[in-house]
Formats: sequence, C-alpha cells, structure tokens
Amino acid sequence: MTDGPTDSESSVDAAGDRSEGGLDPRVREHTAGEEQEGIPFIGAGPGDPGLLTLRGKELVDEADLVVHAGSLVSSALLEEHCADAELVNSVGKDLEELVPLMRDAHEEGRTVVRLHSGDPAVYGAALEQIDALEREGVPAYVVPGVTSSFAAAATLRTQLTLNGVANHVAFTRPRGKTLDAEDDHIGEFVEMGDVTTCIYLGTHAVSDAMDRLLDREGVDPETPVAVVYHASWDDEDVITGTVADIGGKVEAAGYRASAMVLIGEAATGAGYERSYLYGDWANGESANGGSADATSDGPSDAADAGGADAGDAAAPTNTEADD
Ligand SMILES: C[S@@+](CC[C@H](N)C(=O)[O-])C[C@H]1O[C@@H](n2cnc3c(N)ncnc32)[C@H](O)[C@@H]1O
Repeated sequence: MTDGPTDSESSVDAAGDRSEGGLDPRVREHTAGEEQEGIPFIGAGPGDPGLLTLRGKELVDEADLVVHAGSLVSSALLEEHCADAELVNSVGKDLEELVPLMRDAHEEGRTVVRLHSGDPAVYGAALEQIDALEREGVPAYVVPGVTSSFAAAATLRTQLTLNGVANHVAFTRPRGKTLDAEDDHIGEFVEMGDVTTCIYLGTHAVSDAMDRLLDREGVDPETPVAVVYHASWDDEDVITGTVADIGGKVEAAGYRASAMVLIGEAATGAGYERSYLYGDWANGESANGGSADATSDGPSDAADAGGADAGDAAAPTNTEADD
C-alpha cells in the first residue's frame, strides 16, 4: 500500500484535465468506430453474438488477447468469436493490473481488444483505461455497441421515445457506493412524466428505488415499470408491473444483477399517437390535422421528423426517422 497516488492514478487524474486543452486531433481524422491504430474498446452489445457490430466482430475475430467485462459479456459471444484468443476477465482487476497487461501484450506485437458490455460510452469506465493506456504510449479508440436499454426496448417491442408518451430518455443509476444520495435523480426523471427512465446497475436495488418513488407526491404509483433480465440472452426474462409492485416481483424472481429497469408509460408501448412522419396514410386524415406538431413548430420540426437536414424541409416526409 502506498500513501499517495500511484503513477497510474496520477496519469488518469492528469488525463481527466484534458478537456481544458481542447479536442484530441484524432477526433477529426477518423469517423466513429473506424479501425484505428492501437487497442479498440469494443461494445460487445447486450449479449447475443448477433448484436455485435460488424466492425466489432472483425476486430474480435483477429484478437490474440481479449480483455472482457466478465459475466456481462456472454459466454456465447466469447465462444463464437474468441475461441483462439487468450481471455482475461477484467472483473476484480484494477487499472494498475489491467493497463500494463494490455500495454505489454500490445508492445509484444499481439492483437489486443478490450470488450465492454453494451456500449462502452454508458457506465463503461472506458475512458480512464483509454487515457491510462495513452499515457503509457499505447493508443486506443472506441467501437460502439448496442446498449442494454436499446436491447430491452426491442425485447419489449416498444420505443424509448414514443410519440405523445415519452419525449425524453434518461440513462441513470441508483444511489450507492458510486453515487451519492443527492445525485440520485431517478425521482426527478420519473416525476417529469414524459421521460423513459432507464436504470443501469440497479437490479439489486429495485425495491429501494421504488420505495423512494412512492414517497414522492408527484409520482403515480401506477406508473408502468418493466425489468428485462439478460436482454438478448437465451435466459432472457421480462417482469412487468408498476412502481407500486415491481420491487416485490423482482425480489420474488431473485434477480440481483444484469437487468435493465425501464420506468414510464413507454415501457408498455401503449397510448402513443401516430407520428407526423406517417401522417396522411396512417392516420387516415390530413397530416396538418394530425396529432403531431406539424403546424405549430414549423420547418425545423418537419425536417427532424423526416430525418432530413434543415435545408431539406420540402423533402418527402416519409423517410427514415426515429419518431
Ligand atoms: C456496468 S453497466 C454496463 C452497461 C453497458 N455498457 C451497456 O451499454 O449496456 C452494467 C449494467 O448494464 C445493464 N445490462 C448490461 N447488459 C444487460 C443485458 N443484457 N440485459 C439487461 N441489462 C443489462 C444492467 O443494468 C447492468 O447492471
């Protein structure tokens, strides 16, 4: 044990200041997920190997050393894509152990990949590893993946944003060792009413979180909640209920980890209004007379709904869009 910070800790702390120096020059040299020099931090997706991106698959297939996020990366994926690689489970290892391990393998000429569950950008603690590696002279970059709340929405056959139901999405986690009580904002998000609240890292604390919601006057105890355990895995399970009763149901099922908790009306997929995007035909009425904001918000909304740039406001509306 040392009294002061270790070299690696100091490196990470120093790297945390980098925003003051502006963007890394590589930001404009590469597109997202493009193969780059160094160690890729790959989003493995929620579990099903079919939900790994093509770029992620190419990189994992070639790897000699795969450092993975333990039980959250499915064994099916590791068996399918990493049969010939050395596998290292990162759970329980600190940066002082992981960074030299990846650095040394990279410097020996081995192909190293870091596999995070879902997408590394969401509760992945990827950046501190990337910064620590770069301080050691080893470049690293990110290949995105499908985050578990997206997989849970797919399982539930719903959307996280849903016209007339949920206009916003919050990715959040409950209070605990990492998050102080005053920084737990689940109650505020749910109280807003038109937010789908996606709770990561909260399977063990569903009852606690719901008890706190029940204490808030602004939260309807009948607000729908869906808990998706191991979304996309063979043993995937779905528990549905309300703020009032989901805690007991999850406890009865015995799940303590690896579930996504979605709170809000969108979890049911019910009650939405058809979007302006598919106006005339789907609604059987004039697009301007439809339920969405075609007339009130002007061309910029129309452009959003049609997935076009602002300058394309006159383009046909029935193009790919998220709404
Ligand atoms: C450390 S966070 C990592 C999140 C990950 N980076 C992502 O984008 O999904 C782990 C939490 O993600 C959620 N999670 C990860 N994989 C999941 C899955 N297949 N099904 C449901 N929830 C999952 C659980 O809430 C778990 O506690």
